[in-house]
Amino acid sequence: SNRTTLIAGNWKMNNDREEAKALASALVEALPEVPAGVEVCVCPPTIDLCCVSHKLDGSAVKLGAQNVYFEAKGAYTGETSVAMLKSVPVQYCIIGHSERRDYFHETDEDQNKKAAALIAGGIVPIFCCGEPLEVREAGTYVEHVVAQVKAGLTGLQVTDPSQLVVAYEPIWAIGTGKTATADDAQEVCGAVREVLAEIFGAELADGIRVLYGGSAKPGNIAELVAKPDVDGALVGGASLVAEDFASMVVKAA
Ligand code: G3H
Repeated sequence: SNRTTLIAGNWKMNNDREEAKALASALVEALPEVPAGVEVCVCPPTIDLCCVSHKLDGSAVKLGAQNVYFEAKGAYTGETSVAMLKSVPVQYCIIGHSERRDYFHETDEDQNKKAAALIAGGIVPIFCCGEPLEVREAGTYVEHVVAQVKAGLTGLQVTDPSQLVVAYEPIWAIGTGKTATADDAQEVCGAVREVLAEIFGAELADGIRVLYGGSAKPGNIAELVAKPDVDGALVGGASLVAEDFASMVVKAA
């Protein structure tokens, strides 16, 4: 496809400030340049966005956030707005991660508002979707994911495919070492692209990146991104080791 592969690292709630800075520096050193056709970004904890931004300055590694609140400003203790992220500056923001949905009770409607606020503010949402193990075993995982995408993304003002990224992350594969097969990933990523075509039209859907996430690592990234509808990966554990993450970027080319 003509879609630029995206390898995005989600650091989750790991590292203190010095460790975050060291990881960013090691990554910049390991990736003096990024291969053609590949884009790289890292998503540190909110508190470390600024210091990591300084470390990434002038490098090919882009910056993303792990969360945002959809209101513009005001009395929302502990939250971070789109404008605050934009001023760091941040280019991407993960939303709808299963950990946010499960542990912090975020709804599909929250994701729709977050996506709209991010797009309006010029930050690219990395919208996550994915089924739990019992839904996979029941065989209704495509319907489950399609419903999440419809609820999360319907009504958004998307005019260019670069404004949105979707990440399919089967929950049973997250942090478990149990990667979906490349065929499993393709099946659902292909279904995601079909529903994106229903929502945004075929032309936009053809350009929107659909990532896979869930125990992606140096040993499986090449076969995942070889699939026609898998345009990269959202990487958790392996993104905390600079050499592993850098190797995934090279292998995704
Ligand atoms: O956002 C990243 C995913 O949750 C995947 O995490 O690579 O540690 O399985 P993992």
